[in-house]
Amino acid sequence: MRQDLIEKARGVLARNDRGHYTVPTHGLYPFQWNWDSALSALGFSHFDEARAWREIETLFQHQWEDGEVPHIIFHEMNDGYFPGPDVWGTGRKIPTSGITQPAVTGFAVRRIHARARNKTMADANARALLPRIHAWHQWFYRNRDPEGTGLVSIIHPWESGRDNSIDWDNALARVPTEGVAPFKRRDVAHANPDHRPTDEEYRRYIWLVQHFRSFGWDNSKLHDASPFRMVDPGFNGILIRSCRDLADLAETLGENEIARESRAFSDRGIAAMETLWSDAYGQYLCLDRVTNELVESPSIGGLLAAFCPIPDHRAKAIASRILEIGKTVQYLVPSHDPAQPQFDGLRYWRGPVWLIVNYMIADGLLNAGQTDIVQRIVTDSIRLIEQSGFAEYYDPNTAEPCGGSSFTWTAAMVIEILKTEAAPA
Ligand code: GLC
Repeated sequence: MRQDLIEKARGVLARNDRGHYTVPTHGLYPFQWNWDSALSALGFSHFDEARAWREIETLFQHQWEDGEVPHIIFHEMNDGYFPGPDVWGTGRKIPTSGITQPAVTGFAVRRIHARARNKTMADANARALLPRIHAWHQWFYRNRDPEGTGLVSIIHPWESGRDNSIDWDNALARVPTEGVAPFKRRDVAHANPDHRPTDEEYRRYIWLVQHFRSFGWDNSKLHDASPFRMVDPGFNGILIRSCRDLADLAETLGENEIARESRAFSDRGIAAMETLWSDAYGQYLCLDRVTNELVESPSIGGLLAAFCPIPDHRAKAIASRILEIGKTVQYLVPSHDPAQPQFDGLRYWRGPVWLIVNYMIADGLLNAGQTDIVQRIVTDSIRLIEQSGFAEYYDPNTAEPCGGSSFTWTAAMVIEILKTEAAPA
């Protein structure tokens, strides 16, 4: 059965493979996405290491001169997606979007390097990527943490990777909609509109894009100019984990300066993460940098923080919190607390389960020795696939497959989970 699932997952990767990058799925997402690629490379690495390295290499070929790695690379024109290159207007020869996404590549590269069978190839690729990933991390702390707090902001909900999370509702409501050019959404032609963000949210997303474009995408200005500035514990947890892993990798490769600075980013970040902890919710919360208040919204962002080496007592508290949530749903881990009135088990990041998030939480909690909850998360993840195939996301109670189908990173996570130590006994 397990081998059968792995074969099916490989079939999904093959279908979405464009040779030097993969699309997340046919139709809905016809280009290369940043964190999708990094996580999908983990799947490839189990059966084709060269292809795994190629995926990440392609992503970094489109890194901006200032260090940013954009969230979408529009390799081939396709009018089945909105907003396309004309809306972003970033002026790149091969067009890209202008915002970024969770920096999970440092983690992925270290993991693929550590278990590589072809060490020569792994060393060469890791050595080439190391300074570029580091430049991206430096870009984050320079542009997104201007006051040196140790934590970075996102300036657009899409940067979080959790596009329409309930976490953003209040802050997004402050983003205007006046002056947004009329547009036609394409996503609702590929997926059930009830599973997707609303039109109102889309207008605000596009307002932000137009606003940033009016600054010529000058990253030294965008943070302060954005009416949406949010410190997301999940996003920071991923960045911190990548900095820590990059420090380890740099040490292995004898790049001591990169190792030193990466470890400093990570140590500072872990200490600062404490400012996001909420005793009332038993998890981390987002901080709205415009109002300087914690956002009372218990989402998966505050649990995903466990991907980085948070203190043991925090990891234990997160494990208990997930255990409690697990008593109320059939499948862990819902992207929002089901006890909250805004929870919606079918709508994208407002309740459904996402396998990539499950994987990262399980990995972090495994490192923290929380093996019982890891078993439950991993078992639930595989049950979802057996029940409903390789969907984009799933209802945490009915396992209804939602969004796009034959999804690349879902398939990659199945291969990764079944082939690694995290696999259920
Ligand atoms: C959606 C997701 C985002 C992902 C992208 C491509 O926008 O919210 O996290 O990277 O789709 O799969």
